[in-house]
Amino acid sequence: MNKAVIGLQWGDEGKGKIVDYLSENFDLVVRYQGGNNAGHTVIVEDITYKLNLIPSGVIRDKICFLGQGVVLDPEHFVNEYEKISKRISNPRIYLSSNISLILNYHKQLDKINESILTGDSKIGTTAKGIGPAYQDKVGRKSIKLYDLDNMISLKSKFEAIKKYYDPILDAFDENKIDLNQNIERLSEFYSQIKSLIIDNSFIKKNFQNKKILFEGAQGILLDVDHGTYPFVTSSNTVASSAATGSGCGPNSINYVLGITKAYTTRVGSGPFPTELNDEIGESLGRRGKEFGTVTARKRRCGWFDGVLVRQTIKIAGINGIALTKLDVLDELDEIKVCIQYELNGKKIDYLPSSSEDQFKIKPIYKTFPGWKSQTRGIRNIQDLPEKAKNYIYALEDFIGAKISSISTSPERDDTILIEDPFKV
Ligand code: IMP
Repeated sequence: MNKAVIGLQWGDEGKGKIVDYLSENFDLVVRYQGGNNAGHTVIVEDITYKLNLIPSGVIRDKICFLGQGVVLDPEHFVNEYEKISKRISNPRIYLSSNISLILNYHKQLDKINESILTGDSKIGTTAKGIGPAYQDKVGRKSIKLYDLDNMISLKSKFEAIKKYYDPILDAFDENKIDLNQNIERLSEFYSQIKSLIIDNSFIKKNFQNKKILFEGAQGILLDVDHGTYPFVTSSNTVASSAATGSGCGPNSINYVLGITKAYTTRVGSGPFPTELNDEIGESLGRRGKEFGTVTARKRRCGWFDGVLVRQTIKIAGINGIALTKLDVLDELDEIKVCIQYELNGKKIDYLPSSSEDQFKIKPIYKTFPGWKSQTRGIRNIQDLPEKAKNYIYALEDFIGAKISSISTSPERDDTILIEDPFKV
């Protein structure tokens, strides 16, 4: 049975740990969207692994595949590959020949795009060139990995790209595209990674009757179609994107596991109805070590938003939930959950479409007593304090999906299994 693991909030829900945990039982782990804007941290026996592009399954020496829905920064990939190779010898990582590349001008354009926005309208991107790279993909201007096999046609593609972007780069005092430098760098990159590039039919040919784990990046609220647009990333983070981004049919995803924290965080700007700009928000950030893996920015923290998660569960077609970071709530006197919003004096139970309204809505909370004891490291549901169990069951009821596991620390094995993840 194939599974997709996806974030139900604004990313950083702890997907890396869950993918690492599950991947033991899978033959192939696939990344299908996003790029090195993602950051997955996995801690195993005091060793911390930080991954951006390479699927977390690499830590268990699983075969890993980056599908064509990913955008790949060559320099970043080579660095990450070299780093992981020091820990895992000969990692089995393959790249779809259809992957679109992120090149230097995409990062320059990312910077320009942000610079022309003002105040609250700034997106706060990771500045990794993700948006412009996806723009080029849809605009049919991408350099694909397969292009690196033909330097003559690559050069003519670059000439067209240069004509298109140089006037923009110049207008914003950015360096124009250096054709020769780009070609030189790409040919060096190609010689380093040529053996990892495979045809897009890789999965169909080799993994027909094998078990595949699809590792999502970011979260549904950052999905370009379903998220808090325009404060989103530029890819589809929903589970169905696992099919388009990897070359599998939609029926090859048999189970969708949604990951949500026991509270909410967001990095970058945009609406965040349950954000806490007070000592409680600070303490969630401290206890949860809420700093971005990619940009080291402090994450914004707030109460669990039941309305949002209930909505993203429906969009994603979720079969089960992994609840993470329960232990971060251990010291609180009381814990709140958003169960409705108020917009222009009316109560609503959905996230409105426009960002203007999303900024305006006020959360309506239900309050739960805190358990004020340590849950960190607990591995059995019976060992949780009653009040923690009540909180979990109330979340489950409200969001309308079964919680199948609970994570109680970043360590691989500090996980409560309610349902055997290898049987469903
Ligand atoms: P971009 O993906 O760099 O274009 O950034 C767009 C928005 O998505 C910004 O608010 C980023 O902070 C956010 N974002 C992108 N990737 C991640 C992630 O992996 N975790 C959390 N936020 C992310």
